[in-house]
Amino acid sequence: MMIFIKTKSLSSLFVKTIYTPLNTFGFGRASLRVRSMASFTNGEVAVITGASSGIGAGAAIKFAQLGVTKLCLAGRNVDALKETQKTCIEMSNDKLKEENVLLLTGDVTDVSISKNIVDKTIEKFGQIDILVNSAGIIKSGPFETSSVANFDELMNINVRSVVVLTQLCIPHLKKTKGSVVNVSSVNGIRSFANVGYYCMSKAAVDMFTKCLALELAPDGVRVNAVNPGVVVTNIHKRGGMDDEQYRGFLERAKQTHPLGRPGETEEVANAITFLASKQASFMTGNLTPVDGGRNCVCPR
Ligand SMILES: NC(=O)c1ccc[n+]([C@@H]2O[C@H](COP(=O)([O-])OP(=O)(O)OC[C@H]3O[C@@H](n4cnc5c(N)ncnc54)[C@H](OP(=O)(O)O)[C@@H]3O)[C@@H](O)[C@H]2O)c1
Repeated sequence: MMIFIKTKSLSSLFVKTIYTPLNTFGFGRASLRVRSMASFTNGEVAVITGASSGIGAGAAIKFAQLGVTKLCLAGRNVDALKETQKTCIEMSNDKLKEENVLLLTGDVTDVSISKNIVDKTIEKFGQIDILVNSAGIIKSGPFETSSVANFDELMNINVRSVVVLTQLCIPHLKKTKGSVVNVSSVNGIRSFANVGYYCMSKAAVDMFTKCLALELAPDGVRVNAVNPGVVVTNIHKRGGMDDEQYRGFLERAKQTHPLGRPGETEEVANAITFLASKQASFMTGNLTPVDGGRNCVCPR
């Protein structure tokens, strides 16, 4: 069911009333706070991994809201991808046509899947302007007992697949002077006990972001990362938390994040779309916390 709520929104010059739909992705609340200035009017083509859930789905919907009319959504769960597609179309005010949302399924650790994402996108749309690497997992446990298989899985999904897909996109991004946004984590820039492998994987994504930004700057391709704090998605339960542990984790997030709450996917999507847009034309190599201030916290 779609609920529309009446609210005030600040545009650059005017305060005006907008009607914001709330939907199954929880979109709407952050729209009440601020309307992103990013917009996409030049037929940009955006490729988004992890688009079947959480932050990747949120980014896809936000791109559609802001005018992207050609999307490639990648994930494993076909039904969930279709749900994202449907919401993207609804939130685009029907500017986005179903036939212009390419849904591609498969495990990103399989190089042939990444190759398929790039080949099919080029075959259909002829170009790639934006790549958002959001597919990822979390696994927890102390170094002393966490298996090397866990380490390999985290590195394969969170790092290797990002490197492989990005590498395949580079020739196309050079042609469009496009941009990459990697979904890293506050765990990439700050250390936490019991999630060491995950922290290492995100630190690798951060360094990849900065080194690649230097390499591609002469070609006008920008590469940035967002580093979210705790955001309400499926990742933590998929990583092993049961309902009660997750409730406690979100409760604790009120203390661990100076803004006193966990984040919403739309708040990260606002940052992703901004970094991908021309409004961020002088930003590259940025690691961008979207974490309610969590990265600033030191015990005292
Ligand atoms: N939520 C947070 O608190 C938080 C904080 C910081 C950073 N992050 C980062 O944000 C990114 C997105 O996570 P999320 O919170 O949105 O989690 P999520 O809701 O669990 O979504 C994860 C997405 O990644 C996809 N994915 C995972 N492994 C894959 C694989 N091997 N092949 C293809 N797709 C795969 C999933 O696809 P299927 O569902 O189709 O399998 C899903 O679309 C991750 O990189 C995560 O590390 C999350």
